[in-house]
Amino acid sequence: MKDKEIQNMLESLTGPEIAVLLAMKSKSDFLDIVNSANLEEIKVMRALQWLSNKGLVVLKEDLSEVIELDINGKKYLKDGLPEKRFLAAIANMELSMADIAGKLGFDSNEVNICIGTLKKKAAIDIRKENGLIFSITEPGKKYLAKESLEEKFLKKDFPVALKSLTDEERFAFNELVRRKEIIRKNLLKHKSAELTMQGKKIADMDLKAKKVIDRLTPEDIHSGAWKNKSFRRFDVTAKVPKIYGGRRHFTRQAVEYIKKIWLELGFTEMSGTIVQSSFWDLDALFVPQDHPAREMQDTFYLKDPAKGKLTDKELVKRVKATHENGWTTGSMGWQTKWSEEKAKENLLRTHTTVLSAQTISKLKKEDLPAKFFSVNKNFRNESLDWKHLFEFYQVEGIVVDPDVNLCHHIGYLKDFFRKMGFPDARVKPSHFPYTEPSAEVSVFHPVRKEWVELGGSGVFRPEVVKPILGFECPVLAWGLGLDRQIMEYWGLSDIRDLYRNDLKQIKDLKLWMR
Ligand code: PHE
Repeated sequence: MKDKEIQNMLESLTGPEIAVLLAMKSKSDFLDIVNSANLEEIKVMRALQWLSNKGLVVLKEDLSEVIELDINGKKYLKDGLPEKRFLAAIANMELSMADIAGKLGFDSNEVNICIGTLKKKAAIDIRKENGLIFSITEPGKKYLAKESLEEKFLKKDFPVALKSLTDEERFAFNELVRRKEIIRKNLLKHKSAELTMQGKKIADMDLKAKKVIDRLTPEDIHSGAWKNKSFRRFDVTAKVPKIYGGRRHFTRQAVEYIKKIWLELGFTEMSGTIVQSSFWDLDALFVPQDHPAREMQDTFYLKDPAKGKLTDKELVKRVKATHENGWTTGSMGWQTKWSEEKAKENLLRTHTTVLSAQTISKLKKEDLPAKFFSVNKNFRNESLDWKHLFEFYQVEGIVVDPDVNLCHHIGYLKDFFRKMGFPDARVKPSHFPYTEPSAEVSVFHPVRKEWVELGGSGVFRPEVVKPILGFECPVLAWGLGLDRQIMEYWGLSDIRDLYRNDLKQIKDLKLWMR
């Protein structure tokens, strides 16, 4: 470390850090440091952590096995080991099993253990005579007189580290640990810390003399006293725990932002249900009943209730006529039979254009011109992979206005996408059953420097507008993909990440800001 760095380091030390550094000149055990620094454990722990971040100390933690007395161990320490008490009871007279048990208050289990232990040591003789009669032997007398290794062991100053046992103690330990609740083994964490080279250098400097302060007070500012004080240097690069405030899910942030764009452009939000009839999702939009998009492979149909009601008989009649022969729209229609039963089939909406159809059907002449939008989820029967999901967002919009044309259409799209961060948007001829002309929408990607296709649009056909609105009127319409824009913004490569609800991801992703 250079002098300047040492100086900075010195100026950055807090009171507890200084106390700990000084304590560590002679101590390395955590509890010793605590005692010597004369601080709370938690403060010492924190100071050690900081010092370790600064490279002044290394923290160590070892696990060791320690032995402690269990319930019976404590009892035997006080009363003596049962086998010794057994022997003492028969030291001067023969006794029966029942006598011994009664005299010593042993249960049969304890008696049996005593007999086993004592027989192994040849300390007792057993005679049969209306039951068992016990007497002490010569080796038994010697055994009784001498303190056994086990007895000695019980008197140790517990807790004791397993590693520290002598051979004799280890023998006693092995005997006792097999018996019931005499001793128990615990794992003990042992914390310690050592000064690094740099830590030693700093600790050897004149630490106590440095009087630094942590806080600038209003009084010091008023009086000007701050000019003669030295302040602690704060490390603004230090890692601190993250604080997570409450926030919306990142897809919701984007959705809210987009809603605001449309509201500011004077659009009104449309709402509607996710479950819809085929009538509104498809037939009202002049999608022929044999269109491939209506197949089960593409659309989720409901099992229960499989069909809904079509209440507006007049409207159904008009849509039927439009499909079959063009009704009064000037078109020939699809020239095939239209089935009301098929139109009743319930499905999960496949596009938010369904909301546009329903919204238009509620408009009267006096309501025009009118503009609506929706930012909502739709469902299609896609097989799941990193690029495809069965649910996705669409940004939908309509402008119902006798005086608009394709120029306004392109203008709205350009406006919207500029606010989404794309410098330019353009349209290309395309096809949808419900629009004429139909226009595929692309935006210019400012980073990738290429055009990216983001959805469909067009002017609704008279076959759509006249049956549901009652009269002809230009309707500009679009349905734009949102999921790809969201993924792009947050650098996600798998579309499934949008809906995984992984808390860490939700917390860590940056906020939506355009
Ligand atoms: N509904 C079309 C889709 O889901 C998009 C669209 C909306 C096209 C409105 C034209 C007009 O892809």
